Parts: sequence; structure tokens; C-alpha cells
Amino acid sequence: MYRFAEKEVAKLGLPRRLVRREMLGVTKKVWEQPGYPAASRDAVYKLTVRQGPREYVIDAAANEPILVALERAGIKAPSRCRSGECGWCRSRLVSGEYFMPEENDGRRWADKQYGYIHPCAAFPLSDAVLEVPGEYW
Ligand code: FES
Repeated sequence: MYRFAEKEVAKLGLPRRLVRREMLGVTKKVWEQPGYPAASRDAVYKLTVRQGPREYVIDAAANEPILVALERAGIKAPSRCRSGECGWCRSRLVSGEYFMPEENDGRRWADKQYGYIHPCAAFPLSDAVLEVPGEYW
């Protein structure tokens, strides 16, 4: 339904940021998304995670969202929608490469300019350093 609705919204000339969508999680088979580098599908990278005074080095698979890697390592990172829409998981990528499916990229313009990603919708494509907010609950 969204594919139809997005075409109709585009005809109206509205920017995507004005349209909020209810998503049901992030893209499941990210490797089938346009622009995803197929050679990275089974790679596992080292992710250095800074959360306040703590620092962790964990494994992060290229075929699953960074948020899943954080949770698997026992790191309590904030999350809500898990679809890239709400921004609750917003984190600063200090270094590294990632892939974010266009349909899950709900970041604000300024976040893109200053290196923020939504780990729930971002897939690692290299070793990386990520600053994750502390716990909110
Ligand atoms: S949890 Fe909503 S954007 Fe990541």
C-alpha cells in the first residue's frame, strides 16, 4: 500500500519528511534492496560502541541492523519503532560505512549532515565506531 501511496504523495510535490508511515520493522532481506553491496551480505565487522563512559567492541553482521548487534551483545540501547521512523535510537556514527534502505531512512536533514544514523535501520558495511545514547528507562 505504501508504494502506491508514496507515488500519489509524490504527485502532490510533498517532501517525504512530511509523511509519517507506520512500519512493521526494518527491511528483512536487506541484500535484496537496491544499492546494497551484495559482496557484503555475509561479512561480520567490528563495531566499537561508546555509551557514556563505557566502551565495547562487538561483532556486527552486515545482514542485520546494528541495533540487533547491540542487543545481542547485551548493550541497552534506546529503541521504539525499530523501523527507522521515530528517531528514538538516533546515534552518532564517528567512523565507518553503513547501508540504510531508503524506505527506512526517516532521519532529519541535520542528522544526515552531522553523521547520525538510526541503528535500528542501519546495516554495517565496515568496521565502525558508534556513540550510542544512554538508557532512557
Ligand atoms: S527505534 Fe525508531 S528510529 Fe530507531
